[in-house]
Amino acid sequence: MNYRHAYHAGNFADVAKHVALVVVLEHLKKKSKGFVVIDTHAGRGLYDLSGVEATRTCEAEAGIGLIRDLKGPLPAALETYLELVRTTGASAYPGSPLIAARLLRAQDRLVAIEKHPEEAAVLTEVLRPFAQARVLHADGYARLATLLPPQERRGVVLLDPPFEQAEEFRAVAAAVTAAMRRFATGTYMVWYPIKSAARATSFCGELLAGGANSALRVEISSDAPGEGMRMAGLVVINPPFGFAEQMVAVGEYLRVPLAARLTVSWLSGGS
Ligand SMILES: C[S@@+](CC[C@H](N)C(=O)[O-])C[C@H]1O[C@@H](n2cnc3c(N)ncnc32)[C@H](O)[C@@H]1O
Repeated sequence: MNYRHAYHAGNFADVAKHVALVVVLEHLKKKSKGFVVIDTHAGRGLYDLSGVEATRTCEAEAGIGLIRDLKGPLPAALETYLELVRTTGASAYPGSPLIAARLLRAQDRLVAIEKHPEEAAVLTEVLRPFAQARVLHADGYARLATLLPPQERRGVVLLDPPFEQAEEFRAVAAAVTAAMRRFATGTYMVWYPIKSAARATSFCGELLAGGANSALRVEISSDAPGEGMRMAGLVVINPPFGFAEQMVAVGEYLRVPLAARLTVSWLSGGS
């Protein structure tokens, strides 16, 4: 387990993933009934963009750094996301569990799972002020099934592994398939890096083998100068109504300032 998200926090792929998370959470909040967020690979929750890791890669500079101060009428989820980032601190960036915790209401719950002991310890401190958040220092794949179906019968599962090893694609697809058997109506957001278009497409097929009737593929590629990953994707199973349209609007808005292209296509269902 060598991966540390501190090297990548706030990059273009984080921007797309975190805005998508905001879209899903804001949709779930339209009903007063509570819901659960399960973040199977949560990270440390809070990143220092002036720290050694972030300044070594400069990925955040070519991501959130390009759009942090955007003003003006923005798509609602983008506005909410940027406000969350700005209010986290001058050189700080919130990870997915902190974004979720800050958007939850009293009746909602967050279960954030992190396997790395140091990351889990930091995350525990970061989420301490949030009564409805629980951190599990555990294996996200193993614990996910034990948390499903959630008592609320509503919610979203974010699977955002490091993909350090090629087998991780299979592990994620197997976890999603098993999870969907227990909680078929949940929304699942599965992040993946794109190094090979063929591998990405076959991964989407493996995710669909779990029986998803409704699934969207969101992909983002960066044209900003820099090293490292250039393209990433997110499969969203059971996306909320209007999710595709909102992500298209966000993509159009960000195309120039983020120097990134975002595409949205249905893998199954949709219109
Ligand atoms: C891409 S980062 C997560 C970023 C976070 N979701 C966000 O958006 O802010 C992946 C995290 O998964 C953790 N991890 C790796 N294998 C794991 C496993 N089997 N179960 C839970 N966490 C794991 C890593 O330590 C790392 O912190």
